[in-house]
Amino acid sequence: MASATGSFRSDIRFLLGDEERSLRDIDPQMTVLEYLRLSERKSGTKEGCAEGDCGACTVVLGEPDGKGGMAYRTVNACIQFVPTLDGKQLLTVEHLKSTDGTLHPVQQAMVDTHGSQCGFCTPGFVMSLYQLWLDGGEDDRGAINDALAGNLCRCTGYGPIIEAARKAGGVAANDSVEQKRRADIAAKLTAMVEGEGTLALEHPAGRYFAPRTSDELAALLVAHPDATVLAGGTDVGLWVTKMLKRLDPIIYIGDVADIQSVYETQDALIIGAGVTYSRAHEALGRVAADVGELVRRIGSRQIRNAGTVGGNIANGSPIGDTPPALIALGAKIVLRMGDVRREVPLEEFFISYGKQDRVAGEFVESVIVPKPHSGLVFKAYKISKRFDQDITAVLGAFAIKTDDGKVSEFRAAFGGMAGTPMRAKKCEAALIGKDWNEANLNAAQMALASEFEPMTDMRASKEYRMLVAQNLLTKLFIETNAPDVATRLVGKEAAHV
Ligand SMILES: Cc1cc2nc3c(=O)[nH]c(=O)nc-3n(C[C@H](O)[C@H](O)[C@H](O)COP(=O)(O)OP(=O)(O)OC[C@H]3O[C@@H](n4cnc5c(N)ncnc54)[C@H](O)[C@@H]3O)c2cc1C
Ligand code: FES
Ligand code: FES
Repeated sequence: MASATGSFRSDIRFLLGDEERSLRDIDPQMTVLEYLRLSERKSGTKEGCAEGDCGACTVVLGEPDGKGGMAYRTVNACIQFVPTLDGKQLLTVEHLKSTDGTLHPVQQAMVDTHGSQCGFCTPGFVMSLYQLWLDGGEDDRGAINDALAGNLCRCTGYGPIIEAARKAGGVAANDSVEQKRRADIAAKLTAMVEGEGTLALEHPAGRYFAPRTSDELAALLVAHPDATVLAGGTDVGLWVTKMLKRLDPIIYIGDVADIQSVYETQDALIIGAGVTYSRAHEALGRVAADVGELVRRIGSRQIRNAGTVGGNIANGSPIGDTPPALIALGAKIVLRMGDVRREVPLEEFFISYGKQDRVAGEFVESVIVPKPHSGLVFKAYKISKRFDQDITAVLGAFAIKTDDGKVSEFRAAFGGMAGTPMRAKKCEAALIGKDWNEANLNAAQMALASEFEPMTDMRASKEYRMLVAQNLLTKLFIETNAPDVATRLVGKEAAHV
């Protein structure tokens, strides 16, 4: 069978540890976790929540890094589908112990620090520690916390595990044996899939396509306009594991080479739809520090290693973290159907709850994020019950410029306050051209109350949401005003909350 650009292939090729696998006749929705436990009988990888929250299923994926070596990342096996392994190396806890029984340094460190009690979470923690070890190790407490925030332990407590991370150390950057090993694996993986056609699975349970270029992706989506686009699967995976949906066909964009990069022009950052949060993080942080911090707080390391900015937009969620920030920055998205592309301001993409300006057969190709011009201050505040690994109750994002104490530019956007991420136009109007003082701050807060009717749900009541949104404006005021005003108002803010 010929594809838009070449031929199709019907077996999934990957390395399980160091062993080659070629799988046919597999349900494209089978998760990596199910495959490991039920087909390979490798039960080291555990199932806790089956929704990406607990980290018990953490595995490491390796891919050629394009520079002759390998790039490794942790993901949640419970929400990744088996065909997404094509062209990759899957490493599980079974891979770590040497054939002579010697434990890997991260396993030995867990033993030495008493980092395990019942042991259920341990393989997941070990794999997160292994990832740190592969990247050279980590001593900084904050960085270790960040790497482990997606792994939950109910018995041991995190102190010994953090100590294990420090004790295990990491592989030396100039370790020539390790470099050679990685180069060999990269070459092997490349030979397994390069020039071998597009992965296309036809199974009674459903079809699955993994195009390799955006032209091929566009053609496939025109041919299958009702297909489910699969990016990182951190939403789609849960449709299968929690909602028991059948998806047919699935078109996976993670192997589309030309949408995997972030590049910068003088005025903007352009993020391809296949770029994960982890890979977009640094560049977004350069555009505005608060966007970088926002992305760092999305889910966990495992979620950020899989989830994409494009998916966060395309899913249309009113509580996605990047859309309000990107709206406040004036971002646009490029939508593509066949050979036709159109640019849409992000704020116009979200029409109403569950409805976006995207027709069947169209996909998000890239996100264009303008760099704030000189004098524009950007702030974003995520409010959730837990600091890490939690979904937002309210998110406020603001781009503000003041000249001689007057607000000359102001864009405000909120998440969690309406059926879509939304710009606060009345609030903006209440401030633009006015003095940036307490009276006008209060007017902007009143305007906010007149344009949003937030809902009550398990995360927050509507009253709480409104109060928090108004207080975020106060926070903005404090942070962008003279220190003496800030000092005076801190008491007032505390009283508000
Ligand atoms: C444990 C956990 C924690 C999470 N924490 C957060 C959080 O803190 N903040 C947050 O905002 N979100 C969070 N999420 C939600 C999720 O991670 C994000 O929404 C993520 O950005 C989705 O991206 P993805 O690449 O995984 O999308 P997928 O799951 O692959 O797809 C999501 C949707 O977008 C569509 N889609 C994806 N890419 C495209 C494209 N290029 N063109 C057209 N349609 C497309 C898919 O068809 C699907 O409808 C969390 C999820 C989990 C499981
Ligand atoms: S089983 Fe909990 S994150 Fe996968
Ligand atoms: S050791 Fe029991 S859950 Fe972590």
